Parts: sequence; C-alpha cells; structure tokens
Amino acid sequence: MNIAVLASGGGSNLRAILNAIHRGTIPGKITLVVSNNSTAGALEIARSHNIPAYHCSQLHYPSEEAFADALLRLFEEHGVALIALAGYMKKVPSLIIERYRNRILNIHPALLPAFGGKGMYGIRVHQTVIASGATVSGASVHIVDEEYDRGPIVIQKQVHVYPDDTPESLAERVLTVEHEIYPQAIKAFVEGRVKVEGRKVTVDA
Ligand code: GRF
Repeated sequence: MNIAVLASGGGSNLRAILNAIHRGTIPGKITLVVSNNSTAGALEIARSHNIPAYHCSQLHYPSEEAFADALLRLFEEHGVALIALAGYMKKVPSLIIERYRNRILNIHPALLPAFGGKGMYGIRVHQTVIASGATVSGASVHIVDEEYDRGPIVIQKQVHVYPDDTPESLAERVLTVEHEIYPQAIKAFVEGRVKVEGRKVTVDA
C-alpha cells in the first residue's frame, strides 16, 4: 500500500514510520512526502531516502479547491492509498477528506478527546495538561474527518505525568510513545486490520 505523509516540522514521526518500513514491520511504502513548510526537516528526511518530496502550501493557490486539486493530483500520481499526517499543522481541505474518507490518519500528543481541538498543538498541549493537574497523558492516532482532532480513535497509549514534569519533559515522553503507536496503527491499516464503522473503529489483532 502506498502512503503519503504530510508534515510541517522536524519529521520524527516520518522517521519512525520509515524505520518500521525498513525493518519490514510495515508492508507498505511511503511514495510521497508533502510539507507546507519549505524548510521542514521532514522534506530533508524524504529526500535522503529518495522519496518524492514537495513543498506545497495553500498560500500558493487562489483557493482551497485549487490547493486540494493540486494535492489530489500528487496523490494520484504517486498511487496514494493512505495519508498519514505527521506533525502537519494545516487544515486538510474537505475535498481531500471526502475523497480519502477513513483513509487519513493523524497523531496527536494527548489522550483525545481531551486536550485536542483548535490551537491545541505542540508544546501548548503539554502546558495545558500540566496546568490541568492531570496525572496521565499520552498520544492518540485517530481518523481525520472534518472536525479538528475529533475523528474516531485508532490507537491510544498513556504516559504518567509526574509532579516535577515540565512541558518539555512530558513532550519528550509523549513523543516516544507517538513513535511507537503511529507505526503500529499504520501497520494495522496496511494489513487491512482496521475497520471503521461510523465513529466506531475496531483493530483486529
Ligand atoms: C509531534 O508532537 C506530534 O504529536 C505533532 O507534531 C509534533 C512534531 O512531530 N502532531 P514531528 O517530530 O515533526 O513528527
């Protein structure tokens, strides 16, 4: 199965997925990496693995529809069947969500639906978790639909929040869990073990 990864940042989740593919754990292939950020580390990682890497931003297009058409053309050119958002900070055009219904995944650094939604990304998530007094946090892989961070959950894993945690120390522990569960979720998807019925997701062992 051909996978497209959309990323805006350093690409540590992209690297984790690539490592799992190279280990033979995921029987799939990343055929395309797209970033809205021309200096994203994720684009460098793609290029170093000879994966087609594109800087593609809605700012370069007259409308969301034109941007969506450009993305769709890239996905079709590269035979994309599954889209993985990996630190992607932009809204996915609704045309893409419709065309790839239930085939777009995202990784979020908290236990959704808690600490998700508009503006909840990066270090702010962990600052909010700590400020809330929560004693557990974690990471979530979910299906992307029209509502930000509200799609049905595929895999989640908890981490403890310690009294002396800083947002940075918590972020680091959560990121480690992200690198564990994202490849697991993608593997399940590629192996056809993920069933989505409305808001219910089952992952067969
Ligand atoms: C990660 O914290 C991830 O949860 C969020 O984006 C951040 C950066 O991801 N979605 P990456 O290192 O660029 O993969």
